[in-house]
Amino acid sequence: MTPEQVKLVQESFSKVAPISEQAATLFYDRLFEVAPAVRSMFPDDMTEQRKKLMAVLAVVVNGLSNLQSVLPAASALAKRHVSYGTKPEHYPVVGGALLWTLEKGLGEAWTSEVADAWTAAYGTLSGYMISEAYGST
Ligand code: HEM
Repeated sequence: MTPEQVKLVQESFSKVAPISEQAATLFYDRLFEVAPAVRSMFPDDMTEQRKKLMAVLAVVVNGLSNLQSVLPAASALAKRHVSYGTKPEHYPVVGGALLWTLEKGLGEAWTSEVADAWTAAYGTLSGYMISEAYGST
């Protein structure tokens, strides 16, 4: 990611922060619509899950300017996900739902540059998480 892309991700994320509850609801609704099979992996009551997701996203987005600082937490998060039943192929599905949510949440602020920046950010993070949790094959 370029420094400009880091800035775009951070600025755009700060715009959805005030509506983080709705954004998280939109995200999980979308995820369970495109991948109904993963619904049963999550608790029935998603209230806490929504909060945890947005809190961790905030940490990761802030940490993009100093990637080394978030890698240990991202590695531990990835390894916990193995016990949740998460498979490598789930990551692109979650990424698709995340980008879709940001597009809805940001409206006109969702430009092609912002989309590219988020694609790069999610690609970097998920690639790292997959290799930490499953090893590179
Ligand atoms: C960058 C990608 C992801 C992030 C930032 C993320 C974030 C989180 C966080 C913060 C939690 C709370 C529990 C914990 O901290 O261990 C969690 C739980 C969970 N995540 Fe993810 N996640 C990601 C990818 C995925 C993927 C690809 C799946 C696959 C469907 C998934 C499924 C789950 C499940 C099933 C739980 C546990 C729910 C429960 O039993 O409480 N996550 N995730």
